[in-house]
Amino acid sequence: MLCFYYFLGFSCDFNPLIWGWNPIWCIIGSLLIPLPLDIPPNPRPHFQPPHYQASPAPIDPSLFSPCFELSLLTTNNFRSMPRKGNYGFNYDEDYGAYEDYFDDSDIESDVGEVLEEEQEVIKPGTWRCSICTYDNDESMPFCDICEVFREPVSICNSGNKRTAPFKFDCPSPDDLVSHGKQSSKAVSKGALSSITEKNRSVTAVPRSGRQESSSVPLANGRRIPANESRSTFSEDNSHSLTNSLSITVEVNSEGSRNVNNRRAVSPSQYKPEAWMLSDNEEGSKNQLNLAIVGHVDSGKSTLSGKLLHLVGRISQKEMHKYEKEAKLKGKGSFAYAWVLDESAEERERGITMTVAVAYFDSKKYHVVVLDSPGHKDFVPNMISGATQADAAILVIDASTGAFETGMDSNGGQTREHAQLIRSFGVDQIIVAVNKMDAVGYSKERFELIKQQLGMFLRSCGFKDSSMLWIPLSNIENQNLVTAASDGRLSSWYRGPYLLDAIDSLHPPVRDVSKPLLLPICDVIKSHSLGQVAVSGKLEAGALRSGSKVIVMPSGDLATVRSLERDSQSCTTARAGDNVAVSLQGIDGGNVMAGGVLCHPDFPVAVATHLELKVLTLEAALPILIGSQVEFHVHHAKEAARVVRILSLLDQKTGKVTKRAPRCLTAKQSAVIEVVLEGAVCIREFSDCRALGRVFLRGSGRTVAVGIVTRIIE
Ligand code: GTP
Ligand code: MG
Repeated sequence: MLCFYYFLGFSCDFNPLIWGWNPIWCIIGSLLIPLPLDIPPNPRPHFQPPHYQASPAPIDPSLFSPCFELSLLTTNNFRSMPRKGNYGFNYDEDYGAYEDYFDDSDIESDVGEVLEEEQEVIKPGTWRCSICTYDNDESMPFCDICEVFREPVSICNSGNKRTAPFKFDCPSPDDLVSHGKQSSKAVSKGALSSITEKNRSVTAVPRSGRQESSSVPLANGRRIPANESRSTFSEDNSHSLTNSLSITVEVNSEGSRNVNNRRAVSPSQYKPEAWMLSDNEEGSKNQLNLAIVGHVDSGKSTLSGKLLHLVGRISQKEMHKYEKEAKLKGKGSFAYAWVLDESAEERERGITMTVAVAYFDSKKYHVVVLDSPGHKDFVPNMISGATQADAAILVIDASTGAFETGMDSNGGQTREHAQLIRSFGVDQIIVAVNKMDAVGYSKERFELIKQQLGMFLRSCGFKDSSMLWIPLSNIENQNLVTAASDGRLSSWYRGPYLLDAIDSLHPPVRDVSKPLLLPICDVIKSHSLGQVAVSGKLEAGALRSGSKVIVMPSGDLATVRSLERDSQSCTTARAGDNVAVSLQGIDGGNVMAGGVLCHPDFPVAVATHLELKVLTLEAALPILIGSQVEFHVHHAKEAARVVRILSLLDQKTGKVTKRAPRCLTAKQSAVIEVVLEGAVCIREFSDCRALGRVFLRGSGRTVAVGIVTRIIE
């Protein structure tokens, strides 16, 4: 127990966001134990903000890693003790057991005594932070050091709403971006959608007055329904997010009452029919949903466009057209990216804004390419599209300085995308080290990137055996669909080229024998499909024309009229397939993106109060009781409030290290409870991984990833 006190004082020292805890724990430690360890006691008798620290000795760049980065802010004494940074708690473990919470009431009472002894006079004109004890100027609404608000909000005292770290009484940065985009003239493409044949019109249905979408013709004659879905507000709906969410609450709570009153049938009683299990369709390949992720401008869209061209999905003629148009606009280098970035705004700005979908066949797979936006403003779009991935290609810009920017702990999308993709459950990753032409195909550069990024990816939970590293160049067509021809690369690289690497991925495991689950990515009004159609990926079960489904959260029953996969009508769709499903016997107003099509006897829960196990990400703002966050799960997004922080967990063992902590800071694993403003369709992670993974965002960045451990209400 005594070592535990000391450990707390010591370990907190590595986290700049919870510096202030040190004095408390170290005082306790020094009062109670004679410190037999060979570690110097805390050198700061009185708390000082980080910028008062003596600058640390230069760091050996070869030691670069997330955990060493942290040590830059600590004293030299502690630099020699790297702290294990494990972002990805093992999502494959069983999360059921939380009975082993130990009672640490003795710790709390000891803290109380010490605090009384340590009571000091607070200088006039200042206030003392209750978390880190730093004396802040009276004018500061939050602590200058740990950014904890002076008067944290408690949801228990609801009624008088006060400011919380994540403001939700106005549109979030994510919503502002979506809104800005919606109001622009540009049209956008769908996240996951059916690509229909030439001249077929597919138009997205506005969702209960909350959103508007449009369809966009692709230059090659296909159309993809636009996806602004849940996070978008029309010009007329420029009211606050809170207002629009409260509308959703009413609608959804009605639905949730109906649905949750249905007689629950245990999924173990489900017996799949024979047609669901067998795959009779001739020549059909396994579908592989492949997310293309990475920092902005790393070359994701160019890579996707080039692949499509090289495998024959985009003809030479079409490619000439893109090249000509791009040159005319002075964007010649973006010609291949234009295959996927088809909206005027994306082309003008030279960035991807929504996830583009394209298909091609490799030797082994029917590959669904999900080209994600790399810009930090569009992470919610990336989440909505790439959450369906079975595997990912992480594209890295090898050129000097660019790789380093992507790895920046403050806004580097290489880091955020890697963390997100792992928390989507993706464990197979191809690292495409792109733009090798810009560094003369240098083996040393490739090895440096492999070493530094490899360390980070391992800390995210990727195993060495599931990572493939390929040096390539889109522009010079090296290592894409054939082995490298440039001697500068082929002289030292003998591994697989990209297409080969895709075929070497393990086929994803599909839950075909479980009851149907199809989270709705988009609602589309289709002349070819019927009045109401939805698109998305089947996460479990199977569907065919004539199947009866229950549409959640409304609880309305509908019949599947027809199915389309890759623009082609098909008779059956199974888990893993991306399909467009037309429905009959249902009012289109009761079908919404973020909803789920289910087997009529096994509807998903519709809930507003959840227990989550979360992992806070680096550089995240502290999460307090009362903090307001954006809650993302599959294609649904709701405003949420943290109502309880139950316990802090050891990231390695999952054991409780502290009960009821006052706040969560960066890189902590914890069990919390959240209350959502609107109900969402959800499952516990142990029942269905895809519907039980959540993401919490605030201030335009992902603050935590997690899983649903209990549906409370
Ligand atoms: P976002 O979607 O906005 O995140 O960007 P992206 O990752 O899709 O990058 P995009 O494909 O739009 O390419 C960005 C720029 O990188 C373009 O000017 C490309 O021509 C350039 N680029 C892509 N691949 C290569 C490459 O292999 N070598 C060089 N030198 N430039 C490349
Ligand atoms: Mg792009």
